[in-house]
Amino acid sequence: MVSTHPTGVQDSGSKYLPQISSTQTTPSPNQQLLPLTAKVNLHDHLEIGGCDVKNLVAQYGTPLYILDEATLRAACEQYRESFKKYYPGESQVLYASKAWNCLAICAIAASEGLGIDVASGGELHTALTAGVEPEKIYLHGNNKSRQELTYAAQAGCTVMADNWHDLNTLVQIAQENSGEISLPIRIMLRLTPGIDCHTHEYIRTGHLDSKFGFDPGDLDEVFAFVSQQSVLNCAGVHAHIGSQIFERQPHRDLAALMVQWLTQAAGYGLNLTEVNVGGGLGITYTESDDPPSIEEWVKPICEVIQQQCELANLPLPKILCEPGRSLVANACVTAYTIGSSKEVPEIRTYIAVDGGMSDNPRPITYQSVYRTVVANKMSAPITETVTIAGKHCESGDVLIKNAQLAKTEPGDILVIMTTGAYNYSMASNYNRLPRPAAVLVGNTEANLILRRETYDDLIRQDCLPERLKKG
Ligand code: LLP
Repeated sequence: MVSTHPTGVQDSGSKYLPQISSTQTTPSPNQQLLPLTAKVNLHDHLEIGGCDVKNLVAQYGTPLYILDEATLRAACEQYRESFKKYYPGESQVLYASKAWNCLAICAIAASEGLGIDVASGGELHTALTAGVEPEKIYLHGNNKSRQELTYAAQAGCTVMADNWHDLNTLVQIAQENSGEISLPIRIMLRLTPGIDCHTHEYIRTGHLDSKFGFDPGDLDEVFAFVSQQSVLNCAGVHAHIGSQIFERQPHRDLAALMVQWLTQAAGYGLNLTEVNVGGGLGITYTESDDPPSIEEWVKPICEVIQQQCELANLPLPKILCEPGRSLVANACVTAYTIGSSKEVPEIRTYIAVDGGMSDNPRPITYQSVYRTVVANKMSAPITETVTIAGKHCESGDVLIKNAQLAKTEPGDILVIMTTGAYNYSMASNYNRLPRPAAVLVGNTEANLILRRETYDDLIRQDCLPERLKKG
């Protein structure tokens, strides 16, 4: 329901609030613009997790990532429970932590029973430090270093073998093993399925011209090799077809294809028991986005795998999936303080905030579109069309073009929605801006999960050679 003013002008903020009725089950977080706990309070301020955004900003400063624990947990639960509901075999949801990798989020995902997909030694280190069980960590990457592979093998994680280089290096590591690795090393094989889907070119990975995974044409050779390596234990196959996907057919096709790979592997005496269908479920960034719910995404995958296994007379494999965006994106907003503005007559008005492409590089990288509200004037009417600019020395540093907004002034708090995925994880220090803080909110409490960087943090890794020192 969109609330309107007596004048017929639309409310700027409350139209984005989740519509939750007491009789309904929890909505799918990936279909909401604001976190599930978002409300407008008596001061007409946005409140998340029972915390007034204006107070959070007063305490922690801006830019500030505000992560709602209840929304993140609801998304984890919906994935986990949907598999339980639709699949009689085993299942394991992994959080693709590239979406936002930090100790607190890994710990929350693990406490919800999820495993973690990591894409580098750094992400692996974070997950292990957060206390995630190594058996539930899966290491990805199209060019893993020997050191990363060794780290994963020593810790007892599963390695997603992406190519021959991975396989050969793993065999060498196992052979040179000084006794610190328990053999065999557990692996899965990543394959490029050749399934196309409609998403941005940079985030599409399943078509054949991709840098990731083995070509299915090489499968016989790969299976033959793996079946001969006593130091490797191949648990199954993996594929990821892309990100921000709204269609359901590509994952149906993928599920069917993956069962064929299991049959093919059996021809080499390989008893593969795991199938990982990757991530990719899309989310709502604007009202016009209409992704399936988490449950609607999980259901057909379970059905197809069951049907195909029955036809092929195979036992049901354990299904894994590794969503990133749809777990965390809609649980978070970014709060900024509005500063300067500039009117370019007859063209546009720029309103600048105290962050930009360094804390959210998605608009400049993928032309991503976001929605925004003024957190301290939630029901002020929409009267302006403005362009939200960042503060970087780059003309393309624009967060939102033509945002529909209430009238603002310097000091107002602008909140950009759905910023939980691929914002902090892709943040930079461009122009030497310190990376923002992040708080976890829930039950009227806020806990810092990422400290704001200081100017000293920015120069911590700098080295000034003796001969350049003054005096
Ligand atoms: N598994 C693998 C192997 C992946 O490469 C990815 C994402 C995922 C899982 C998680 O996909 P998701 O459920 O989040 O769609 N930076 C881009 C997105 C890059 C996605 C990379 N891989 C963006 O901001 O849109």
